[in-house]
Amino acid sequence: MPARTLVQVSSVAAVAPPPSFLGFDSYQTFLNDLLIPWSPIALLLVIGYFMWRTLKLMPRTKPQEISAKSKSSVTWAEVEGVDETKAELREVVDFLSDPQRFKRLGARVPKGILLHGPPGTGKTMLAKAVAHESGATFISQSASSFIEMFAGLGAARIRRLFKEARDSAPAIIFIDELDAVGAQRGSDISGERDQTLNQLLVEMDGFDSRDNVIVMAASNLLEKLDPALLRPGRFDRQVFVPPPDMRGRLCILEVHTRGKPLGQDVVLERTARHAAGLTGADLANLANEAAILAGRHNRDFIAQSDFDDAFERVIAGLQSRKLITDQEKRVIAWHEAGHALVSELLPNVDKVTKVSIVPRGKALGYTLNLPQEDRYLKSREELIDHMKVLLGGRAPSRSPSAGSPQAPPTI
Ligand SMILES: Nc1ncnc2c1ncn2[C@@H]1O[C@H](COP(=O)(O)OP(=O)(O)OP(=O)(O)O)[C@@H](O)[C@H]1O
Ligand SMILES: [Mg+2]
Repeated sequence: MPARTLVQVSSVAAVAPPPSFLGFDSYQTFLNDLLIPWSPIALLLVIGYFMWRTLKLMPRTKPQEISAKSKSSVTWAEVEGVDETKAELREVVDFLSDPQRFKRLGARVPKGILLHGPPGTGKTMLAKAVAHESGATFISQSASSFIEMFAGLGAARIRRLFKEARDSAPAIIFIDELDAVGAQRGSDISGERDQTLNQLLVEMDGFDSRDNVIVMAASNLLEKLDPALLRPGRFDRQVFVPPPDMRGRLCILEVHTRGKPLGQDVVLERTARHAAGLTGADLANLANEAAILAGRHNRDFIAQSDFDDAFERVIAGLQSRKLITDQEKRVIAWHEAGHALVSELLPNVDKVTKVSIVPRGKALGYTLNLPQEDRYLKSREELIDHMKVLLGGRAPSRSPSAGSPQAPPTI
């Protein structure tokens, strides 16, 4: 029986049709005729597909037009503490709204205005206020959006930005964070940033005063910008936006507490006086933190204590929950007491407002010496007294009573 089966099988094999796969010869032909000549084209298609995918994934960086009605626009009244800068910018607004007033006297429009200063002083806000007030088309684009992986794309975007502005003149172009493209040439290995900057220089030369197009830009680091950008004819006017003075801080605090319920005991002037050196952004943050703290205490209004706590939080950082041993606490307490005592004994230093051994931010403890007024100059005696206060923290651990039970621990 098994032998019969074998015979049957072999007979079936004998009549079966030839297999349909390619033999060795036809495989060679397939390689020679089809795969080898077409493979470079296929490769190009694959590369093209990936480039198209990358381009699609890139953010759309069209210049943004800010109109007076748009949500992001800001009025002059919302920007406080920078009166000189406001006056300078108002002139630009006047020029665009009534050019004849200046032109009949032969005056030329400033082509470029560069706002520079520390972060958070209100440069971007000022530009938005100009957008609101000028009535001219205001086109804004961040300089970082000119920086792309592909060479030439940044330069093309600059060309498009200026073309758009010329087409809708009178117009103001605002380039925020100019440092991203404006740094001195020669430092960029790829050359893409230099190419973009060159295009910006060319465009700023390319329009004349009849175009009624003004370029505004904001930067933090004026010293790092390419000198060619800063020469007259490009950014003619460089306006420094400083941190606000005492009156400015008070006005900014008032702006940011508008609409917030304040307690009877709140004296914004006190917070403003102590906050020397804080910028508009810090003060906005402070007002917000105070509101959050009041909410945390389930109160319906913001009390002065919320402002005081928020102030400490802004200048010293978040309270930390580090576990500190008793011995360390003693060291910190003696250290801070040293700072506080020396401050009280010396006539030329700011008054001590608070001493704390609760860790905040990076500090394990702190002594707050807060100024009563803004000072721009310091005498030699004041500087020496300040150094004494700084060294005062180490003094207790080196006192002659070291070794006795009440003595400060040595570190
Ligand atoms: N002069 C000011 N008056 C009122 N609010 C201000 C002022 N300056 C800053 N602020 C507040 O700080 C925030 C940040 O300000 P802005 O973005 O204009 O700072 P900037 O100078 O452009 O900072 P950067 O240099 O980092 O870009 C604003 O949204 C505003 O709430
Ligand atoms: Mg800004």
